[in-house]
Amino acid sequence: MISKISGLIEEVDSYQPASAQELEDFRIKFLSKKGILNQLFEDFKQLDNDSKKETGKWINILKNKVNEKIELYKKEFEHQKFQALFTGLDLSMEAYPLKAGSRHPVSIVKNQIIDIFSKIGFTQSVGPEIVDDWHNFTALNFPPDHPARDMQDTFYLQKNPDYLLRTHTSSVQVQEMQAHQPPIKTISIGRVYRNETISYKSHVQFHQIEGLYVDKNVSFAELKQVLYYFVEQFFGSDFKIRFRPSFFPFTEPSAEMDISPVHGKTRWMEILGCGMVDPAVLDNCGIDSSIYTGYAFGIGIERLTMLKYGIPDIRILFENDVRFLGQFSSQ
Ligand code: PHE
Repeated sequence: MISKISGLIEEVDSYQPASAQELEDFRIKFLSKKGILNQLFEDFKQLDNDSKKETGKWINILKNKVNEKIELYKKEFEHQKFQALFTGLDLSMEAYPLKAGSRHPVSIVKNQIIDIFSKIGFTQSVGPEIVDDWHNFTALNFPPDHPARDMQDTFYLQKNPDYLLRTHTSSVQVQEMQAHQPPIKTISIGRVYRNETISYKSHVQFHQIEGLYVDKNVSFAELKQVLYYFVEQFFGSDFKIRFRPSFFPFTEPSAEMDISPVHGKTRWMEILGCGMVDPAVLDNCGIDSSIYTGYAFGIGIERLTMLKYGIPDIRILFENDVRFLGQFSSQ
């Protein structure tokens, strides 16, 4: 039996299939149910114990050789098939360019603003878009009959009108002041909602970045300096700014900041609101106003985006028309 097996081993060693089909025939011949190896195992059972040891070894050698041969040629034929697929093709030809998406201009501007403020130590904070009346209005010193609380200006939740879509990210600042004692230096970023008639200059949704700095001896002069720095970084040094006195329930004194020129014209355009945090607001949020002072400012991101790119209508920013969006870089 052993000489029969060694004959088979020789056969396997010198076997060279010419095609995948030939290899399959080879596999069937040796490994199928009625194939040579099974037959050998049947014969093996009849042997006495002494011969079993030696013969078993040879059968195993044969079996391994058959398997190795099959593996080797299987790979070889697959490789050939693959090569055939590419014959006649120019593999050095350039691929079709993949069209990468681009960032939304509002995201581009938002990231620029975040960069500018993080360089001078502002952390980033975010909060929920649905907030209670207290975080959006009461804590911020809005009197009960303030017009912003009117259904005409704010989206209240029908199921529970104590909750509303935040009208500004000042609600995040309240949350931050409740959670931490000064020094607090943070910008709150996010989407806000107002019940306004949609037109070229206003929308029911837009994005804000509001800054807050609370510490000992924080002054209005510092606020002005930070805003000068911001405008210079964002727009460049060819722009003039001016502060106009204004009113917000949560800041005292309050101001609005205008920038000029706008698209080459000498007119002024308002870009943000700001002021010293009203001591009552600090106290409402658990910060001792006899020790600490703070400033805050709020920037509308869409307005800056429109100004920067010369976009005439805010509605375009929410239409997601790829012909428009594709004009901005993917950075
Ligand atoms: N929260 C104000 C708004 O949405 C902006 C603002 C923020 C004004 C901080 C002053 C200080 O209009």
